[in-house]
Amino acid sequence: MENIELYAQLEKYNQLHLLRYFENISENEKEYLINQLESIDFGILDNYAAKSVITKRGNIAPINVINLDQIAHNKEIYFNIGIDALKDGKVGAILLAGGQGTRLGFDKPKGTLNVGITKKLYLFEILINNLLEVVKMTNRWIHLAIMTSVNNDRDTQVFFENHDYFGYDKKYITFFIQDMAPAIDYNGKIFLEEKFRVALSPKGNGGWFESLKKTGVLTKLKEDGVEWLNVFSVDNVMQKIADPYFVGATINHNCVSGAKVVSKVVPEEKVGTLCLEDGRPSIIEYYEMTNEMLYDKDNYGRYKYNYGVILNYLFNIKAIEQKTFDNMPVHMVEKKITYINDEGEIIKPEKPNGYKFETLVLDMIHMLDNCLAYEVIRNKEFAPIKNKEGVDSLVSARKIMLENGKSL
Ligand code: UTP
Repeated sequence: MENIELYAQLEKYNQLHLLRYFENISENEKEYLINQLESIDFGILDNYAAKSVITKRGNIAPINVINLDQIAHNKEIYFNIGIDALKDGKVGAILLAGGQGTRLGFDKPKGTLNVGITKKLYLFEILINNLLEVVKMTNRWIHLAIMTSVNNDRDTQVFFENHDYFGYDKKYITFFIQDMAPAIDYNGKIFLEEKFRVALSPKGNGGWFESLKKTGVLTKLKEDGVEWLNVFSVDNVMQKIADPYFVGATINHNCVSGAKVVSKVVPEEKVGTLCLEDGRPSIIEYYEMTNEMLYDKDNYGRYKYNYGVILNYLFNIKAIEQKTFDNMPVHMVEKKITYINDEGEIIKPEKPNGYKFETLVLDMIHMLDNCLAYEVIRNKEFAPIKNKEGVDSLVSARKIMLENGKSL
């Protein structure tokens, strides 16, 4: 290979194996591989080198949560403030749909999953229907920006087009593409997906704001008067988007961000817990919880760290624009990664075989001055489809939908 600089990079990061088929591939494939390698920020591999270094957490304390009782008490105030903001077009929605859904093992964009039983009802459709309810309430279209990845962008856009945007005005739907990062094996070696193609995977949902900016979508939303962004995941079938109560509560409490939380089923539940870290809002992963944090109770006998996040956040654009998110913590997440073996065969592993690098939207919360923790009723707002079976699966999500009288 003639590109000396690139060769030196690969050597420095111990990744020369990526060129092992170089002499046997076509000129076009060589060009493809070189372009791909040149686009990779190999510095991300330093996170693998540093993986045994445990990042020390700051001082953790419980966060004040606006609970169901308080919300019921202030219902009207929250609703009126929220609905006004929505009617003024100040709220936009960001659908995070760039993930790969490896746990579910569905090889199309997750939003195209059919959740219906007697009829077709797709994940994307459920989310759009939810947003349409707010549109009807306010008599105004809400901007929806959908984050995809290079892997699923085309399929996602075609799906929306083929379904006529599920009745949404397509002028208010924008797609934008997120960043990718290389995937590595347990020895820190980047996988090849084909002889001429590196295994790249979406770099987590934490980059949504940077990608929104980079693609020019943020400017467009701001020009249209959007001041708040409601960020949510693709796989929660009970998701409430642009919820006037949540928007109103966040504004009413003078917060720059808000997070919907649910009371945990058991203290050990595998969800991120919203708390304070060194006085700032923060989300502690379930595996970072100490015994004290798991089981300590307050004077009323309630668990001090009882509230888990459900990936539904509200962000004030002005507040997040003042921060830089291009240096967010990078998490290494164990996943199943398709690769080619030494014989050149494509292998789709049954269980995790390496790591992907991801930044997470929850880390943005800690970079902000405050966050309103807003409790919602689990069975009314949280039914994610993550796994093939068991907890958080299609079966469990359908059950919750049926319990809520939805027609499937
Ligand atoms: P998950 O953490 O469930 O990740 O994403 P995932 O990739 O979809 O699924 P698994 O872990 O491989 O099974 C939570 C939300 O963040 C989005 C997902 O689409 C989902 O809405 N996401 C995740 C992105 O938009 N980009 C990413 O790089 C990762």
